Amino acid sequence: MSRILIADDQTDVLEALRILLKGEGHQTDAVTSLAGVFQALEKRDYAMLIMDLNYTRDTTSGQEGLEILPRLQAVDNTLPIVVMTAWATIDLAVEAMKRGARDFIPKPWDNERLLAIVRTQIELAGALRKGRRLEAANQLLRGNAPKIIAESPRMRPVLELISRVAPSDANVLITGENGTGKGLVARALHALSSRASHSMITVNMGGLSEGVFESELFGHVKGAFTDAKTDRAGRFELADESTLFMDEIANIPMNQQAKLLRMIETGEFERVGSSKTLHANVRIVSATNSNLHEEVVAGRFRQDLLFRLNTIEIALPPLRERREDIMPLGNSFLRQHATRYRKTLTGFEEKARDLLMQHHFPGNVRELDHVIERAVLMSQGQLVKANDLGLTSGREDSARLEDMSLEEVEAFLIKKALGRFDGNARRAAEALGLSRSAFYRRLQHYGL
Ligand SMILES: Nc1ncnc2c1ncn2[C@@H]1O[C@H](COP(=O)(O)OP(=O)(O)OP(=O)(O)O)[C@@H](O)[C@H]1O
Ligand SMILES: [Mg+2]
Repeated sequence: MSRILIADDQTDVLEALRILLKGEGHQTDAVTSLAGVFQALEKRDYAMLIMDLNYTRDTTSGQEGLEILPRLQAVDNTLPIVVMTAWATIDLAVEAMKRGARDFIPKPWDNERLLAIVRTQIELAGALRKGRRLEAANQLLRGNAPKIIAESPRMRPVLELISRVAPSDANVLITGENGTGKGLVARALHALSSRASHSMITVNMGGLSEGVFESELFGHVKGAFTDAKTDRAGRFELADESTLFMDEIANIPMNQQAKLLRMIETGEFERVGSSKTLHANVRIVSATNSNLHEEVVAGRFRQDLLFRLNTIEIALPPLRERREDIMPLGNSFLRQHATRYRKTLTGFEEKARDLLMQHHFPGNVRELDHVIERAVLMSQGQLVKANDLGLTSGREDSARLEDMSLEEVEAFLIKKALGRFDGNARRAAEALGLSRSAFYRRLQHYGL
């Protein structure tokens, strides 16, 4: 079903077209003047425009209609325009096509022929997009998808799920602790999809203050607020035909969640300061390190929004629960960093390997990456030594604790919790069993 704009100064013509097109499952909006055409196009996107060339000035030359064709092209050059006139001459048809019309219907029209033209124009517009999709498939074969290293049994179903859902348009929610590879999986999903020829658009919900949320997502028009010096497209609009990756999705303020829901449900939105409804065809991939089901129960996240986002849910296990992946990942990071820092490292000493295999990795794969990078910089020989890793085992930590005062231990634990949750005070407080205010008092007390 498509929405088609029809323009004619005769209302009986409009009515006949409306009924004919409705029979084919199309919705129509009708206008009786050329000014009406522009107003309608301001308000929403159409699949097609069918317009008469003659209005009031003189009713035979088709001059008025011809004159506005280039202006319509300037507004939107992707809109297929088909013109009609009762005084069809080849000359007029040729002239209209030169000025941007895609086809021509002589009046009175033949229903079958008119419907065939409508079908062709809508299909052609779709085929253009499909052409881009084929290109995407080819790109895939050339291997543009980022490599996910995973040899553990825990990751096997995850990899299967990724390759199965990537080519679909289903919305995907990726969950997992910090550094488990959510961003990487989002990039892989996009690269393996039919939308891969367009760039994935990313927006970090955690980084958006309430004031800029709407304009970042939906865009704004010039003058919508003090700093709006020019029109600007939002991320959703930029992601048309592509994937929008919404990272840290749990951080959307409750009052913005309804707007986001509408955008995702209908694809419709307005730029801030404009009443024109725009449409974008967007696939949503989102990620969070929170448990959104718990956030729903706690009243911090809308259930209907969650159900829109998590058509498919991909849960990435923490690295400590898939230790088989540690060395394959470690070796890959070693090669990358050794090349980057021009070191001739070839592997790990056995003790270093043992240490890696035992480590808890609260920061998951990202932590492993950083540990290896530091080790590459530190190491002197051919192999990475245990000492180069700079990892303190749990045992060493507790040995140190015995030499500390109670206050020192408290400060130490707070620092550790902050590190573990990437500086997220709420989660660090929760992990330590402290209220948020009690946590902040201690931060202040210890000057952290
Ligand atoms: N399975 C994997 N194979 C190869 N590289 C990986 C894998 N998992 C993670 N990485 C790498 O580890 C780093 C951290 O991953 P990523 O940024 O995707 O994690 P994240 O879950 O998005 O973290 P955060 O929650 O902190 O945003 C990235 O450099 C990523 O490329
Ligand atoms: Mg990330």
